[in-house]
Amino acid sequence: MGKPRHRQQLVLTLLFGLWFPCCLTQTTPPSRTNLGPTPSSSPQTERLKVRLAGYPRKHNEGRIELFYKGEWGTICDDDFSTANANVLCRQMGFVSATGWTHSAKYGKGQGKIWLDNVLCNGGEKSIEFCKSRGWGNSDCTHDEDAGVVCKDERIPGFVDSNVIDVSDRNVEEVRLRPVVVTAKKKLPITEGVVEVKHKDGWAQICDLGWTIKNTRVVCGMLGFPHERKVNKNFYKLYLERQKNFFLIHSVGCTGTEVHLAACPMEFSKPNATWPCTGGMPAVVNCMPGPLFTQNSSLKKKIKCLKQLKGGARMGEGRVEVLKDSEWGTVCDDRWNLQSASVVCRELGFGSAKEALTGARMGQGMGPIHMNEVKCLGNEKSVWSCPFKNITAEDCKHVEDAAVRCNTPYMGLENSIRIVGGRSSYEGRVEVQVGSKWGTVCSTGWTTKEAMVVCRQLGLGYSMHAITETWYWDSSNVTEMVMSGVKCTGNEMALSQCQHHKTVNCQRAAAKFAAGVICSETASDLVLNASLVQQTVYIEDRPLHMLYCAAEENCLSKSAAKANWPYGHRRLLRFSSEIHNIGRADFKPKAGRHSWVWHACHGHYHSMDIFTHYDLLNANGTKVAEGHKASFCLEDTDCQEGVSKRYECANFGDQGITVGCWDLYRHDIDCQWIDITDVKPGNYILQVVINPNNEVAESDFTNNAMKCNCKYDGHRIWLHNCHIGKKHKTQNYQL
Ligand SMILES: *[C@@H]1O[C@H](CO)[C@@H](O)[C@H](O)[C@H]1NC(C)=O
Ligand SMILES: *[C@@H]1O[C@H](CO)[C@@H](O)[C@H](O)[C@H]1NC(C)=O
Ligand SMILES: *[C@@H]1O[C@H](CO)[C@@H](O)[C@H](O)[C@H]1NC(C)=O
Ligand SMILES: *[C@@H]1O[C@H](CO)[C@@H](O)[C@H](O)[C@H]1NC(C)=O
Ligand SMILES: *[C@@H]1O[C@H](CO)[C@@H](O)[C@H](O)[C@H]1NC(C)=O
Ligand SMILES: *[C@@H]1O[C@H](CO)[C@@H](O)[C@H](O)[C@H]1NC(C)=O
Repeated sequence: MGKPRHRQQLVLTLLFGLWFPCCLTQTTPPSRTNLGPTPSSSPQTERLKVRLAGYPRKHNEGRIELFYKGEWGTICDDDFSTANANVLCRQMGFVSATGWTHSAKYGKGQGKIWLDNVLCNGGEKSIEFCKSRGWGNSDCTHDEDAGVVCKDERIPGFVDSNVIDVSDRNVEEVRLRPVVVTAKKKLPITEGVVEVKHKDGWAQICDLGWTIKNTRVVCGMLGFPHERKVNKNFYKLYLERQKNFFLIHSVGCTGTEVHLAACPMEFSKPNATWPCTGGMPAVVNCMPGPLFTQNSSLKKKIKCLKQLKGGARMGEGRVEVLKDSEWGTVCDDRWNLQSASVVCRELGFGSAKEALTGARMGQGMGPIHMNEVKCLGNEKSVWSCPFKNITAEDCKHVEDAAVRCNTPYMGLENSIRIVGGRSSYEGRVEVQVGSKWGTVCSTGWTTKEAMVVCRQLGLGYSMHAITETWYWDSSNVTEMVMSGVKCTGNEMALSQCQHHKTVNCQRAAAKFAAGVICSETASDLVLNASLVQQTVYIEDRPLHMLYCAAEENCLSKSAAKANWPYGHRRLLRFSSEIHNIGRADFKPKAGRHSWVWHACHGHYHSMDIFTHYDLLNANGTKVAEGHKASFCLEDTDCQEGVSKRYECANFGDQGITVGCWDLYRHDIDCQWIDITDVKPGNYILQVVINPNNEVAESDFTNNAMKCNCKYDGHRIWLHNCHIGKKHKTQNYQL
């Protein structure tokens, strides 16, 4: 059956995952031909690429490889030093090195040994400026390949695949100074005088020759996808009377740059101002993306963006694109800032801050739709860029591309705080309402609300929604100022959620103020849809084999009226394979003390409701409910290189490790839907994992799986099994 061709869409799943990155390619700073009379210009060099290779490694450690004269090669460990490692780490965008390794600790490289007896002072901009025996001159073997361990902290402004060495230039940061001071400052600031930060302070840009392309670059840096025209006359009168300090002039961006520093421009002499005769300070006006606009007609567009999955940080995550109504990832070959920027702008953010390779934001599941994406940077959609289709062995999910986009400053973190907890990631929630800070009523406080708080604070995901906070430091509990909070989960701030107009809480502020425990990482469960499709069948199971199942409520209600032990139940059976593709292990919320022993099946149930199995008719009415299954969670198997941690047997720890899956085979008890009472027809089979969002996940939108189901009274067929939104279900009809 042909799949419907849907309009191709793009989504950024704000998911995290630290897997085994495959390669990290860096280049030296672009040559500086276009820069004006700035001090400290370094010699022009051919771009030297540096990467980390070998095994086992992380994104910040590995064997050093250099790309020189069209060939990758290694460095010999003779005379290697921390100073050398520092130069290499900085060259790859890390703040410094924490160590280095010798004797091919990450495995032996291949090809040339490019450098030997390298002696850096530590301050060099690139390894090629350090003393050595010269390119390709070495008496070493690959047994002596050197490696580095870099501090896992990025140089500010550093971008992953193209280097913009901001430290070397006079443009470090850009901001907008609004000229029109309205009574109430609205964020984000979208219009104003462009100010650039340099080492001695902030300065203006002379707007002679300024183009809308320059504006586009500035807007992109500030988190805005588009630029608008400015009414210059409006500013002219005002700005002419001001004393301006023009540091930069003659800016000539092409519009595809992700940082102003990458545009050609000229600088005034140190500590001198450029005359800018006949000009004025550059002023820009940016158009915010739908997420950041107050315009209600634009807000409607957010609906389609709501598929944007809530992430630890806004505007960052693995790139996923929709093709033939199926979500898939993008392979990181040739993934760069220009392509990443197209993705970012398409999603309503600014240009890209980083183009991440090697599944730095976790591995996706399912198809990989694009490879070797090569955008120029001005395309409206990533689908307009040249790319290659994937053939089977081209790419794996360890190469999933991700982005970190520039987002506008919203000041969201200023109207909320958490207090009393044991660490900066947990505490009682306090919000500012008017000028007053106070607590939030914990009635109805769930993971969804807690997720919004953690996101607003920039602390990632919520591990737990706390409804009793008395055991935290309660010496200074403030008054309750908010109650009845109900979020959809996608809001950027708690104030955007529904809440009571006047505080109405049955619970005491001191004991029952709402609290959160936030975490940078979370699990993410996804069902293997194709396995369900492949394994489905019908079984007429004799009642005498179903005593245990009846005891665990795995049969529909009419089973109670059956003539036990005679007769049978008709069961729709299939296998469920639940993968954890997140960045933290999935663990039941309840501690072991509250797990329930199920003698019949001989294991503990750690979650009351782990999955829902339902059969729905076309209008969403349930015609058969599998049951609210509670299971014993464990790692059935894991992908290569990951070891199992959880096991049900012997009261073992329960959970699903990142990179592992829990398989419920079609032939185990209760792994079915009782369809004894279902008439022949067309239906939807729906499986929802973690349906009450009881355990935190980085993405709840991929927790439902649906299949079209055809039942002729004897046999059953499933097709188009896919991960998708949970079907709106109506009342139970049996
Ligand atoms: C520029 O001025 C700052 C302080 O005003 C001073 O510290 C710095 O040395 C000056 N630079 C030059 C090159 O004169
Ligand atoms: C809101 O956006 C729409 C569509 O872009 C535009 O036509 C309208 O003028 C905007 N309204 C305001 C108040 O900015
Ligand atoms: C990719 O495959 C589709 C059909 O699946 C085809 O229409 C398209 O032209 C191909 N694109 C490239 C770049 O090969
Ligand atoms: C509680 O408030 C008092 C007075 O405002 C302050 O001195 C004290 O440090 C606060 N205690 C805590 C634990 O924050
Ligand atoms: C899903 O199940 C199918 C069928 O067993 C298997 O081929 C495929 O590798 C599984 N997918 C994942 C992501 O493990
Ligand atoms: C849904 O469909 C069933 C039959 O398939 C019908 O009996 C029921 O009334 C429908 N419900 C609604 C709300 O349309």
